[in-house]
Amino acid sequence: MEALEQRVATCDWYHTIELPGGIVTPGFYDCRPVVDRLPWPSSLQGLRVLDVGTWDGFWAYELERRGAAEVVAIDVFDPARWDWPPYIDQGGRSEEHERSLKKFAGGSRGFAVAAEALGSRAQRQDVSVYELDPDVHGRYDFVFLGSLLLHLRDPVEALRRVRSVCSGEVLISDVVEAIPSLLRPRTPIARLEGTDRPWWWQPNVAALRRMVRSAGLEVVATNPLYLVPRGAGRPVGSLRRAWRQLLTTRGREELIFLARGTPHSAIRARPAGT
Ligand SMILES: C[S@@+](CC[C@H](N)C(=O)[O-])C[C@H]1O[C@@H](n2cnc3c(N)ncnc32)[C@H](O)[C@@H]1O
Repeated sequence: MEALEQRVATCDWYHTIELPGGIVTPGFYDCRPVVDRLPWPSSLQGLRVLDVGTWDGFWAYELERRGAAEVVAIDVFDPARWDWPPYIDQGGRSEEHERSLKKFAGGSRGFAVAAEALGSRAQRQDVSVYELDPDVHGRYDFVFLGSLLLHLRDPVEALRRVRSVCSGEVLISDVVEAIPSLLRPRTPIARLEGTDRPWWWQPNVAALRRMVRSAGLEVVATNPLYLVPRGAGRPVGSLRRAWRQLLTTRGREELIFLARGTPHSAIRARPAGT
């Protein structure tokens, strides 16, 4: 067990994962409290399942735990291939930035350590969501896609690719902006970042739903809004600084995050007309 503890200590963790022997990985986020808030289907027993953007694999293990017979977990291993904004306002990505991205490199070490410790049979593959193709990858009975759309320049195309390999249902759990979701519940609004932060879009709940429908998916069930709390591995920001910046979008975002977590919305959907 000591060996596992040491291996865990050498990884950079995105997810908080419970491993044997009471070991818990110090993730940036702790998704454990929200697992049961997602609109899961009644069973995944025996299904062929795809986890898109798996990082350390928290959701892949959860899919297995729910009975999936086969879990394929895709990610983009080289961060240089991530579809991230160009960091225009900082003169592009610096060498230091590139190095810190490489350190995370899509959770490769963390996934290997956690999967082995949990006895997971999930297969991690280097495939971009944009590359999904039924002729190459086959079809999946169920697809999970978590916290990825905001990072993509073309989230609707990503959803179209997901739809192309989905013969059953898709569960999407992605970041949304809380305040425009509450103030404009019926109007699809997405705020474009796209310069020096690692995401392109911050949709409200209505916009996330519209993206799903635009990609040819019909909504089956939802949980409009919940907060994913930060994990023990996330540096604690200054609550005082966030208060001082309350009038800015960033200040409000930081305050909600520090107080409760990052707002997410979940949608279960299936290819329209099926
Ligand atoms: C914010 S993390 C989300 C991790 C996990 N899905 C969750 O919901 O907790 C985004 C993940 O997507 C991966 N990723 C980035 N671009 C991708 C792409 N084009 N296709 C598939 N995965 C991608 C990243 O490497 C990272 O593992």
